[in-house]
Amino acid sequence: MTTATNPQTHLATAHKQTPVRIGLLGLGTVGTGVYKMLSRFENVTIRKIAVKDITKQRQLTEIPQDILTESVESVVSDPDIDLIVEVMGGKEFPYQIIKSALAAGKHVVTANKVVIANYGDELFQLASQNGVNLLFEAAVAGGIPIVLPLRTSLAGNRIQQIAGILNGTTNYILTRMEQAGLDFTDALKEAQQMGFAEADPTADVEGHDAACKIAILSAISCQKQVDQAAIHTEGISSIGAIDIDMARELGYAIRLIALYKAGEDQRVDIRVHPMLIPVSHPLSKIMFENNAIWVKGDAVGDVMFYGKGAGELPTASAVVGDIFLLVHALQNGQTSLAGLHFNLEGKASPLPMHDTVNAYYIRLETQDEAGVIGQLGKACGEHGVSLTAVMQKGIDPQTQSATIVLLTHDVQEANLQAALKAMQAQSTTRKIHTVLRVFQP
Ligand code: NDP
Ligand code: HSE
Repeated sequence: MTTATNPQTHLATAHKQTPVRIGLLGLGTVGTGVYKMLSRFENVTIRKIAVKDITKQRQLTEIPQDILTESVESVVSDPDIDLIVEVMGGKEFPYQIIKSALAAGKHVVTANKVVIANYGDELFQLASQNGVNLLFEAAVAGGIPIVLPLRTSLAGNRIQQIAGILNGTTNYILTRMEQAGLDFTDALKEAQQMGFAEADPTADVEGHDAACKIAILSAISCQKQVDQAAIHTEGISSIGAIDIDMARELGYAIRLIALYKAGEDQRVDIRVHPMLIPVSHPLSKIMFENNAIWVKGDAVGDVMFYGKGAGELPTASAVVGDIFLLVHALQNGQTSLAGLHFNLEGKASPLPMHDTVNAYYIRLETQDEAGVIGQLGKACGEHGVSLTAVMQKGIDPQTQSATIVLLTHDVQEANLQAALKAMQAQSTTRKIHTVLRVFQP
């Protein structure tokens, strides 16, 4: 293969000594992209590839059959492999495999957010004890560089806030519902066909995938272990087309947001839920499978990272970037990148949801009779919830129900929940359909 026409960077071509030998674990969407990208370079060689089913028909027909194996363990224990690239997915098995690779003194690059979010702390310690690196740029926001920028270029900042659109599947669904009026199920089917969704899309749709990713970004930001299970997580499955229309009329778009806020007192506010984003904010403009991460640092101010958060080549781009950091170090005679060892100190204590402060959008269905809006206002007022907008939308002729949307000022979640309870108890309230928080940069 010639190198002259390839888009090689300084890092990728700096030294052309003995190629660094890679063991690739997984040859699905991401693994295929990694293989294609690495075939452009002469200073790396893929020595073995582990897959689940060696007989499966593959898009890449040029791969020599003798480098494929169903034994992941044989790749990890191969003394002629310098670097393991884990792109199999899953939780317990890849965790065990990454652990054995690090313990055997091999560098690891992974795209696995579940493993990093759940076992990162232990694995980072193991990596530094063994003088090797565990790099994971692709685990958050696919092709967008965010892990290394937070760990390096922005390292001098106190990160005050992060608001991320970190899941391509849900953003794709919301965009298709917004732009083409598709219903949720059809939009999800499209996202699955395009290879963005996880094998079980529940993790995407219910926000758990984004929760893993914000757990990772939060850990980098506060330098503490962040327990994914402690992150309040809501998905998008209850959002209806009517909410998207109502939000648009009020000047907002709806997006699934993963949020990190540093508090004054070591407390951190970390959560994932859909939010109304003012149309004036760039996060409201993020369409389809694209991801974006808006970061507020105390020195840099606001910065935003944008691009493809999923897919074959975008994700491979991040994996290959990590590979070349290590290739460069190894070919320069360094055994590891000491500056990229990652040490977390203690556990973060996330703010309980009822203590968070937000503005809210509430859509409810009531009887259509005099005094209903006044009663809703009373329930809010009694619990310290102040309204900024009230909108009534048509009457359903069959049920004689009115759809009412309320927008609130900032209020503590505990007060809002008490007001919702009071509204629900009113005899004129038929159903509270949707409660969303409003993003305030
Ligand atoms: P795929 O399901 O497309 O591919 C998984 C690959 O791993 C397949 O080649 C499969 O083998 C192989 N594999 C699975 N289990 C085993 C096992 N026990 N032993 C050996 N091989 C195994 O997954 P993706 O490529 O989509 O995702 C891989 C990782 O990257 C995941 O952690 C995912 O979260 C992450 N990621 C994915 C993104 C995307 O856009 N898809 C974006 C960012 C991160 P076989 O081919 O034989 O079935
Ligand atoms: N399923 C994930 C998404 C893939 O939709 O964003 C990237 O992690």
